[in-house]
Amino acid sequence: MSAIVVVGGQWGDEGKGKITDYLAQRADLIVRYQGGNNAGHTVVVDGAEYKLHLLPSGILHSNKTCIIASGVVIDPFTLAEEIRGLERQGLTTANLVISPLAHLVLPYHLELDSLEESRRGPRALGTTRRGIGPAYQDKTARTGLRVADLFDLDRLAIKLAEAVAEKAAIIRNVYGSDAPEALDIAYLGRRLREIAEVLRPYLADTSAVIDAALREGKRVLFEGAQGTLLDLDFGTYPYVTSSHPTAGGACIGAGVGPTRIDSVLGVVKAYTSRVGDGPFPTELAGKLGQYIRDKGHEYGTTTGRPRRCGWLDLVLVKYAARINGMDYLALTKLDTLAELPEVYLCTGYELDGEEIDDVPLDPADLERCVPRYVKLEGWPALEGVRAYEELPSAARRYIELIEDFVGVEVCMVSVGREREATIIRRELL
Ligand code: IMP
Repeated sequence: MSAIVVVGGQWGDEGKGKITDYLAQRADLIVRYQGGNNAGHTVVVDGAEYKLHLLPSGILHSNKTCIIASGVVIDPFTLAEEIRGLERQGLTTANLVISPLAHLVLPYHLELDSLEESRRGPRALGTTRRGIGPAYQDKTARTGLRVADLFDLDRLAIKLAEAVAEKAAIIRNVYGSDAPEALDIAYLGRRLREIAEVLRPYLADTSAVIDAALREGKRVLFEGAQGTLLDLDFGTYPYVTSSHPTAGGACIGAGVGPTRIDSVLGVVKAYTSRVGDGPFPTELAGKLGQYIRDKGHEYGTTTGRPRRCGWLDLVLVKYAARINGMDYLALTKLDTLAELPEVYLCTGYELDGEEIDDVPLDPADLERCVPRYVKLEGWPALEGVRAYEELPSAARRYIELIEDFVGVEVCMVSVGREREATIIRRELL
């Protein structure tokens, strides 16, 4: 198989970074196709921890081409900082390729993200305030600045002046606020011209690079950020992100036809977490939720916010399998649930007195869904477990129930943070 899409099967933070990093060892190209630095991937290699936001997880493999495709929104200052950060840790970024078609997240987008969130008051979405929504708004409104604009100084000046005039009117007149730095055209222009030189060596037509690689029989890994339930169309709207973290998003965001994709791997955590607001039927608000949060280090890589935690919701995972056409599942953080006397899997809901076993079409109804659980025996600690047969039988039963319910094979199981703490039942790629 030569092209695989890795997607999150829940609300993000499923452990995609680790799974992608593992698969990246066999891939030639690793492609990010949507989202921006709202994402946060933690990869641990030889005890060293790397936190990545914009750079694809594969960047740690210097012999792989890493692509930031046109569907990503790039905060150029963050990207430059991330590149410098890796270089400081002695790693190269010479293997990075950036699409000139990618849109830019600029300081006024961050300002607007915060102002919009504050205005929503109790109905705030809980965004990462990284300017993602406002940048995608500009893209759709056809007013956004793209990476390519940084290299045409006349065009940059015109587009920046127009954008700043519009944002200044909104920030000052609608919100009654101000943002002197984010609205200072001369200052922004100067900083963007500087940053252009940092980005220049990395630019190429990324769709063509991917196409050429596929034609040569190379192995391409498309790395989704966030998760299915944060998809703009198929997530819990409006509590979603502004892009398409789903498998279909890989085609649009990377400029690759669907016939070129061979398989889709969904990454699912052994329990559920969500950061930000919105419905979450299996949320554990009390002590048990806090226990999972602490044991699983469920605090945001990007914002440090505590993540809401709860039991694994198989209704949502089955839905994600459908939306993405998942061929395989990778189950992560099975070790976090170890040492509990019993664990629960949600296999249906009760909605207004009726039993249902699919996600309601209107996400607002999900708020009222009461989960129906199957109770299973817990399992002991999983330290040192490296093969499926070494897993305690209760843990295997848990995995098999997931496979039966979702109808998708679990081909990888992660039982710890390190690269080696991964059970491979089937090699993909
Ligand atoms: P935005 O993407 O910053 O606009 O935030 C929209 C929603 O997506 C919020 O609920 C965020 O918490 C959530 N979100 C965005 N990026 C991630 C991520 O990488 N992991 C988990 N949740 C995310």
